[in-house]
Amino acid sequence: MMRLHAKIRAPRTGFHVLLTAIGFTAASVMMPVPAQAENHSGPYEADHAQAVAALTDLQAAITTIMHAEEATSSGPGSYKTAAASAINALVGSQDAAFNAQAPNPGDAAGAIGHVNQLLDRVSSPPWVPGLHGVLVNAQAAVSALQDAGKADDLDGYELSSSQALTDLVVAEGHAGGYDSLGGLSGALANTALAVTDGAAVENGCTAPQRAGFGVYQGYLSYRAVPLSSIGSAGIDNPGGAKIRLHGGLLVFYTAAAPQVVQMCSSTHAEAQLAAPEAGIFHADFTSNAPSPLLIETADESSGTPALYTAAQASAGAAVYAQNCASCHGANLQGVAAPALAGKDFQTTAVSDKYTVSIIRTIATQNMPLSNPGSLSDTQYANVLAYLLAANCYPAGAKPFPTQDEPSLQKVTMGPPSAPSGTPDANGVCAVH
Ligand code: HEC
Repeated sequence: MMRLHAKIRAPRTGFHVLLTAIGFTAASVMMPVPAQAENHSGPYEADHAQAVAALTDLQAAITTIMHAEEATSSGPGSYKTAAASAINALVGSQDAAFNAQAPNPGDAAGAIGHVNQLLDRVSSPPWVPGLHGVLVNAQAAVSALQDAGKADDLDGYELSSSQALTDLVVAEGHAGGYDSLGGLSGALANTALAVTDGAAVENGCTAPQRAGFGVYQGYLSYRAVPLSSIGSAGIDNPGGAKIRLHGGLLVFYTAAAPQVVQMCSSTHAEAQLAAPEAGIFHADFTSNAPSPLLIETADESSGTPALYTAAQASAGAAVYAQNCASCHGANLQGVAAPALAGKDFQTTAVSDKYTVSIIRTIATQNMPLSNPGSLSDTQYANVLAYLLAANCYPAGAKPFPTQDEPSLQKVTMGPPSAPSGTPDANGVCAVH
């Protein structure tokens, strides 16, 4: 066990060294929580198939135009046929613009038909704005291709067909965009349209528990695949998204993931009401650490759960006075050792992402620094109850546990959203 000289206040980073020395990192204490599937994949499967078919038709039109451009020497007949074929792939066989004399490199519905199917619904999933853009661009391409087909010479054809190509490339889009600029590829990469047949769908706010898709309100935050499924061919990561290892899974975060994180935090309060026991986590996408990107942190925006009883806190005050106050200060204000309550402590807790579980681990494994682990389980539970009370966390009926529990990992030690008791100027609550 690493020892620190109690008189010298170790720098913040020293603490992480301490944790590492005991084989403890924030990531290693994160327990999986049962994910609540937002939805079964059922409703998404048909949409996925439509979107893929639309993309395939779009790409068929693009290929047709590009081939014609490469072979323009073969004369007007061939480029007019190419323009008609590309139109066919876009509009589908039921449309007035369909030319039965020309081949159809697409399918019967055509790209526009598929996109219309995806837009034809009562609800308004997040791919709607993107697909409206796809529609507008595909229609613009059709009219440019009609001009190309009527062109009198090669120059006229090339002018119109390259305009059509530009429109189609925009409609095709790219996986890195989840708004209207992402086009069809963006919608397929960042929304529930990505969900394939039979795949598991989990709440996109939570860390992945198994292979599948993380969806939240129609947005896709990640796709998780078993590490074992990665073959020698390597990793296919078209969106160029962040990839992290998490519990035996390779997790591909989408471009929409940061957006999902924001949405999840803003609906915390609501979710907490609906499922008080189910801690809602949000992902931290800001970290560039080699550890898993998805850090489960507690809900900071809604009510703080009651984790201890008032009797424990009172008993803990005596434990604290005897075993901790010499270094941490009679009022937890910090002396040789850092503050354990109030503004200073809470600021550190937020920046270092301390959960109650982490604080508990520090206290039980490293404290008192002069004699780690010397207190009984009950004394540690009581002193931790005292720290929570001094930080103005609410008391309740359930005692603070003598062992780590998943519920402790869900609560960050930041300022409580609704202080229980009256904090003094330093943000410390009196404990009776
Ligand atoms: C001999 C002095 C000493 C005693 C006694 C002591 N601590 Fe500490 N404690 C420290 C020091 C020094 C640190 C800072 C370590 C670091 O930052 O790496 C610390 C850090 C902590 C932390 C982490 C705080 C933070 O912001 O990083 C907690 C929690 C803690 N102590 C709880 C307790 C409790 C509970 C007791 C009594 C059971 C106790 N300590 C007794 C010296 C002491």
